[in-house]
Amino acid sequence: RSQPLVLGIESSCDETGVGIVRGTTLLTNTVSSSMDEHVRFGGVIPEIASRAHLDAFVPTLRQALADADVTLEEVDALAVTSGPGLAGALMVGVCAAKALAVATGKPLYAINHLVAHVGVGLLDGNPDGGAAGGTAGRSASLAGGLGHEGRLPENLGALLVSGGHTEILKINSITSDVRLLGSTIDDAAGEAYDKVARILGLGYPGGPAIDKLARTGNTKAIRFPRGLSQPKYMGTAEEPGKHRYDWSFSGLKTAVARCVEQFEARGEDVPVADIAAAFQEAVVDVITSKAVLACREHGIKDVLLGGGVAANSRLRELTGQRCASAGIRLHVPPLDLCTDNGAMVAALGAQLVMAGIGPSGIRFAPDSSMP
Ligand code: KG4
Ligand code: ZN
Repeated sequence: RSQPLVLGIESSCDETGVGIVRGTTLLTNTVSSSMDEHVRFGGVIPEIASRAHLDAFVPTLRQALADADVTLEEVDALAVTSGPGLAGALMVGVCAAKALAVATGKPLYAINHLVAHVGVGLLDGNPDGGAAGGTAGRSASLAGGLGHEGRLPENLGALLVSGGHTEILKINSITSDVRLLGSTIDDAAGEAYDKVARILGLGYPGGPAIDKLARTGNTKAIRFPRGLSQPKYMGTAEEPGKHRYDWSFSGLKTAVARCVEQFEARGEDVPVADIAAAFQEAVVDVITSKAVLACREHGIKDVLLGGGVAANSRLRELTGQRCASAGIRLHVPPLDLCTDNGAMVAALGAQLVMAGIGPSGIRFAPDSSMP
């Protein structure tokens, strides 16, 4: 089949994203974030996010079309995140996409946001490293063998870690068979970073602040709990416990709060850097150990790391080390493709078109808790 030109729309949280791909080639990834408006509240406020999407959608669409040098008429298909995410925020992107579909007569695909985080790995690598490639570089990550002639490796897993999700997935077929092996049973990892940063007085979003401060702290000064790691939850490879591959971060957050209270009650200075370092070590240790365990026990040989917490220096380091020891290849897309964006939605939409799967029509509803 020829390479379809697909326009993808993302609005599940605070990013308004419009991405355009031709098959597996990225033409543009245009993103407008409302994060600045949420900072003073210490978290994403759904109503503000929805209103920001309304304001940002048309300018972001225009910018994306201009950057890719294409017209709406040339587009072969539209794709939009239909869940999971914030209901009101999803509604804006879904309504915009339906309006475009009706106005242009183009087919529309409803996309699962989490699967799209993996679909981004199919985009071709840029031999020059990519403009916004960050430390990983587009060539080192994507052209490193993940997307090959439009196909994903056979035994592929994805570790998604952000403010909204912490999941390990097994991808048997990107268009039809994606399985959840494990996930957080309470807070997402990024959410834990944000809550702990608030406890430590570091501001919002907390991930980058803790990452930076942790470098000056002693990871062994305090030992924080690794959630769901006890034998009763883990079981064995033969008889897996109920939460063998799952995570829990709310107990860790409480442990940090208790620890701070104890220093304060004794009238001592709170060792903020040590707490940040020990907290980060607990999060990253349990994420990587369980993810690698799930991969080993499911024959996964390639893992894609995605989500905003993929920016974390210690997570990158320890995931890299533990995957290498287990003989698993780790793929880290450039950060602008790891965080929420429209290109990943377009990339998965293009896969559906190329697989000959029919569009969703315009009668679907956004589903904030889509599995
Ligand atoms: O993917 P993302 O931009 O948005 C969603 O949550 O979907 O992820 C944002 C999350 C926030 O919780 C933020 O604190 C966290 O990613 N984050 C980090 C780092 N950079 C961003 N967490 C740890 N270390 C970082 N360097
Ligand atoms: Zn996301």
